[in-house]
Amino acid sequence: MHKNRFSRVGFILAAAGSAVGLGNIWKFPYIAGDNGGGIFVLVYLATVVLIGMSIFIAEVFLGSNAHKDAVSTFEVLAPSEKKYWKYSGFMFLTGVFILSFYSVVIGWIFNYVVIAATDLPTNVTEAQSVFMNLLKEDTFTQLFYYTLAFSVIAYTISKGVKNGIERLNNILMPALIIILLIMLVYSMRLDGFFQAIQFMFYPNVEKFHSGSVLIAVGHAFFTLSLGMATIISYAASLDKNVNIVKASMIVVIMDTLIALVAGVIIFSIIFNAGEEPGQGAGLVFITLPAIFYQIGAIGNILAIAFFIALAFAAITSAISILEPTVMYLIERRKMSRKKATYSVAVVFYVLGIFALLSNTSSFSTLLTFGNKNLFDWFDFISASILLPIGGILVAIFVGYVLDKALLRKALLPYMSETVYKIWLFSIRVLAPVAITLIMLKEIGVIKI
Ligand code: PFF
Repeated sequence: MHKNRFSRVGFILAAAGSAVGLGNIWKFPYIAGDNGGGIFVLVYLATVVLIGMSIFIAEVFLGSNAHKDAVSTFEVLAPSEKKYWKYSGFMFLTGVFILSFYSVVIGWIFNYVVIAATDLPTNVTEAQSVFMNLLKEDTFTQLFYYTLAFSVIAYTISKGVKNGIERLNNILMPALIIILLIMLVYSMRLDGFFQAIQFMFYPNVEKFHSGSVLIAVGHAFFTLSLGMATIISYAASLDKNVNIVKASMIVVIMDTLIALVAGVIIFSIIFNAGEEPGQGAGLVFITLPAIFYQIGAIGNILAIAFFIALAFAAITSAISILEPTVMYLIERRKMSRKKATYSVAVVFYVLGIFALLSNTSSFSTLLTFGNKNLFDWFDFISASILLPIGGILVAIFVGYVLDKALLRKALLPYMSETVYKIWLFSIRVLAPVAITLIMLKEIGVIKI
């Protein structure tokens, strides 16, 4: 085995570590609730199978075929069009923007592990003021935990694929799954459990609108870490002779199951306390902590377990966001891993500080442009614009540019001719059309 490559299980856990993150435990439950619950979940599952899974397989194929950094991957696999594909490096920029707000949220989560252990807010009003105070006034605490989070991320990457990334994922991912399973068993015994199941899986057609389909597609990309060279770069460190279709399916299934389980847990606890399923950040950082307090001693343990699980999920994702750029610098600029990691980390870190400051009351005016502060801009630019562009690029490259003989040779041992045809249709037609629609909607060109 190559000394700095993933084993098969190592790759599956690391790719799942990348996929399972804030997107699953924080975002999926509330967008599912907002968009009609069960029917949204159904549409989401369909988009994951028909579009997300296809692009995931395509990215794993690209990486494991070229065994190079993402830009070189495009160049090597289409040598005659090398001069165009060198621009695929813009995907690294997506990572810069995502990590800049993502790691700020990890800082909050670290802080909430401590709050869970020491001083949970006693009710929702207090929880609201604790959270708002952290965001707007307590810059020092935010910076402290943000720096801590960033150090863990950078240190792990500096240790390499095998000794850093694989080793950390081998510990954190099973730990995350165990914590979630224990919490699931706990939530099954609550009165709110059936209401949660109903909320998540009962097809409430009324709340569903055509835009929900696009939200589902956009989320499928974000949650599967697609469109920004992450999966390509991880797969580049995959040992040869791995069934890439099966490995991809396992990761996609794990990601989906964890999102569903997280939703059931969170809503069981929320409904059990007679609370309304709030929205976004509020659900995890405001409503949940207050409920955990009201549960008593077990609540403290649950709260600690929950925020540790969230931290594990988010850290393993953040690492995967940084790795593609680091790998690029190592391969193309011949930097040592340490030097590459710390050069990239400094840039990301500083940008993240601006995102962090843009939420504070002292700097929000200075760092707000138009109707969004920098934190929201980074989220919007990456998730709504750059990720979809990256997704289209992969789809076009694999669907139209790449030599089909190469594709058939790599994939047909692992899928039937019919499945291959469906996959290719998804890559050539379904994915590019769906992604284009998302983008046009997000930037306000079309209204659906
Ligand atoms: N998939 C992660 C989540 O669901 O939270 C976020 C993410 C990680 C997006 C890595 C993109 C990426 F490259």
